Amino acid sequence: MKKNNIQPKPCQLVIFGGTGDLTHRKLLPALYNLTVQDLLPEGFVLVAIGRRDKTSKSYRQEAYKSVKEFSRLEVDEAAWWSLEERIYYQRFDFREDPGYLKLNKFLQEMDEKYQTKGNRIFYLTVAPDYFGVIVDKLETHGILKNASSTWPRVVIEKPFGHDLKSARHLNDKLTRVFSEDRIYRIDHYLGKEMLQNIMVIRFANTLFEPLWNNKYIDNVQIISGETAGVGNRGGYYERAGALRDMVQNHMLQLLTLTAIEPPGDLETESIRDEKVKVLKKLADFEPDKIDDFAIRGQYGPGYIKGEKVFGYREEERTSPESNTETFVALKLFINNWRWAGVPFYIKTGKRLPKKSTEVIIEFNSHLHPDYLQDFTSLEPNLLVIRIQPREGVYLQFNGKEPGSRQKIIPVKMDFCQNCQIGTNSPEAYERLFYDIMLGDQTLFTRWDEVEYSWRFIDKLSRAWERIKPDFPNYAAGSKGPKAADELLVKDGRKWWEI
Ligand code: BG6
Repeated sequence: MKKNNIQPKPCQLVIFGGTGDLTHRKLLPALYNLTVQDLLPEGFVLVAIGRRDKTSKSYRQEAYKSVKEFSRLEVDEAAWWSLEERIYYQRFDFREDPGYLKLNKFLQEMDEKYQTKGNRIFYLTVAPDYFGVIVDKLETHGILKNASSTWPRVVIEKPFGHDLKSARHLNDKLTRVFSEDRIYRIDHYLGKEMLQNIMVIRFANTLFEPLWNNKYIDNVQIISGETAGVGNRGGYYERAGALRDMVQNHMLQLLTLTAIEPPGDLETESIRDEKVKVLKKLADFEPDKIDDFAIRGQYGPGYIKGEKVFGYREEERTSPESNTETFVALKLFINNWRWAGVPFYIKTGKRLPKKSTEVIIEFNSHLHPDYLQDFTSLEPNLLVIRIQPREGVYLQFNGKEPGSRQKIIPVKMDFCQNCQIGTNSPEAYERLFYDIMLGDQTLFTRWDEVEYSWRFIDKLSRAWERIKPDFPNYAAGSKGPKAADELLVKDGRKWWEI
């Protein structure tokens, strides 16, 4: 993943929410993996901030345990020590002033010690209600004043708002203090190897791009299923639901990358401009006809891998009468020259039979008429970009069955990226951290992307609010509500299961 071996400049990373789940499961292991790959700058300091009573020593011990448990690379003690000695913990309530005074002094001392020259990254993985308070206090206490042209930087975890209004409010607070070129809005899907590969597959191959339009593509399916339920995140999820939790961000990112026009160059803003154009062209819809293109579901009790699991309404911190959706299927259109008439089907849900994310391109069946007459069971050509857990590309086409006179069967070419020995793709957060340190915003969401995606999602959720759903409507471990299958059957199509 080294970008031509560029070493980031020395910097300090300050994590607000340093004791949280995301920090332990994802951020600390990612930083450790960057250490092993020699991708952290020599002058690097991590300051974790939390409200719990800990010392840097006890925090380091906990961090070590998390890295042991969650790192993709084996833990090498020497590599760990070299990171560990640069980790510090500061305890304070980030709503109160005294902590910021202490933090300011501490960061100045670290600047001296590690020659970090005021290069600071503030990573906010706390409830969004606190984003505004934190950035205001950082500014008031002069913690941002060592600014150069691109530092300090601020990193914001999702959710970026609950709807367009709250997202705007949040953005206003941020931009009062940080300019857009210093704001890194995380969508961790953009850090996944195969998402970055979508543009390469499209624009670095003569084979695919000429066919990438409505003349040759019948439909596109973007599917992301999970076997997990909401776990202990019921409190958050009750207000979010699958539409806000997965579709507004990850699924729409997958859609824009699949659908964008070739950018004029590969500069950050050129790519982001093209992504926004796709979102702007999402076809409008009549709220009264929402059932024709949007299906929602909520899981009831069922079985996952043979084990009985609760329904959503019985999960921790959810209401027994909850109408929050845990499943969404959509049929979308993009109103532009390339995609007019091509449905983009999106499906995502919790407690589905398998964890997997794929983009499936189904091509038209333009065949020799004689083949069409004789072989009624011909399959269309499919190109599948496998995002996770298996990463790769799968191509299905028709061939003659060996030994038969003329029998046609679907055959496949299957490139598996992470099955090859020695291939262990970087975790999304490794790439994202590395890019933040380099100041590359390509894999982060620009404000107008957020804005246009919320416009679309708000309209959908308003239409849904008017109708009471009949939940739960699918059993945990099943394929989701029947209506989601019917959505495609009505169009003479089916969801592909590869
Ligand atoms: C998160 C959502 O953004 O993405 C979770 O909040 C979801 O609900 C997760 O489970 C899925 O991410 P991944 O990388 O496991 O596909």
